[in-house]
Amino acid sequence: MANAAGLDWVEEAWTNARDKTRRIAGRIGANFPHASQGGVYVLEPPHWWTAGFWPGMLWLFVQGGGEEGLRRIAEACEEKLDDVLRDYTKLDHDIGFMWTLTSLASYKLTGHAESRRRALQAANYLAGRFNLKGRYIRAWNPWSENDDNAGIAIIDCAMNVPLLFWASAESGDPRYRHIAEAHLDTVLERFVRPDGSVYHIVRFDPETGDFLEGIGGQGFAPESAWSRGTAWALYGLSLAYHHSRKQAYLDAAKRVAHFFLANLPDDLVPHWDFRLPPEITKYRDSSAGACAASGLLLLSELVGGTESRLYREPAVRMLESLYRHYGAWDDEKEEGLIRHGTSHYPEGKNIDVPLIYGDYFFVEGLSRLRGNDKIFWQ
Ligand code: GLY
Repeated sequence: MANAAGLDWVEEAWTNARDKTRRIAGRIGANFPHASQGGVYVLEPPHWWTAGFWPGMLWLFVQGGGEEGLRRIAEACEEKLDDVLRDYTKLDHDIGFMWTLTSLASYKLTGHAESRRRALQAANYLAGRFNLKGRYIRAWNPWSENDDNAGIAIIDCAMNVPLLFWASAESGDPRYRHIAEAHLDTVLERFVRPDGSVYHIVRFDPETGDFLEGIGGQGFAPESAWSRGTAWALYGLSLAYHHSRKQAYLDAAKRVAHFFLANLPDDLVPHWDFRLPPEITKYRDSSAGACAASGLLLLSELVGGTESRLYREPAVRMLESLYRHYGAWDDEKEEGLIRHGTSHYPEGKNIDVPLIYGDYFFVEGLSRLRGNDKIFWQ
């Protein structure tokens, strides 16, 4: 695949990304980087939602062949997450991000029984967050005393529910899939707008399940369009169709994809929000671009036929733009692979820096272009 016309850069990008990952693996080791500050990845505690991306990226390189050192680090990261599995109060819905890219990745590649057990345990915790009345998966636990967020669901969770589809397929018990589909039906009903943009946060009444409001969250405003949230929806709904074959998910994934593509700047790497007033700086969010590109590659496979190039061609161009214009390949003082991500603009956190999920999805996109058929969310 990577040798197809116009894709010569893919092998070069893969080699650069792998070599840089090998170089930084010595310092980062079995830890959990999130955002790079001053060229150095800041490490987070293992319960932070980003804990899966570094080991997940290592697994992507391991399946390319060899890389024993990277495999050992990925396995040590997975073991470190055991403390988090035991410390239930620190777990929220990002269980899906965390264990899909650690235990499930490991199980898919190695068949380890302990990795399977961990992934099933994580799926049970995720399923336990389902609110029956509102038909949504609760996002977070209270951030502080008296914080009441029992009614909060967020679009990011579209990337968590693939773990539930896997748990049903693996165990033969349909409950997990039922919960995944109930949550995704709520996403269609309450998060995805007619124009294909999405709400980041929706608040429900946790007792009655009634819809209360859409909230801006990490986007600029309630009715703006946070680009990473749009990418989570694009990729998550494509995965939902992949797992369920429900046409409504595919239709919605296409609608979100068209909105995303129609709002890209010339270099195809999105600003952090697609609806910003002129006085707000339009920082890029390269992580949204990388996630959307990998999702678009899946979408192009799902639609097949002549329609597939509608999604594949921009995805390839997005990844090439990230490689050529955002990659920190020759900068020895920068640990991140892909520059110019924006984690949380409204809170002023990690703006215009490399983010580990941007690096992960960039490598995952390359991995797809190289013909890899083991994508951990699938
Ligand atoms: N899941 C949080 C974020 O996308 O920043």
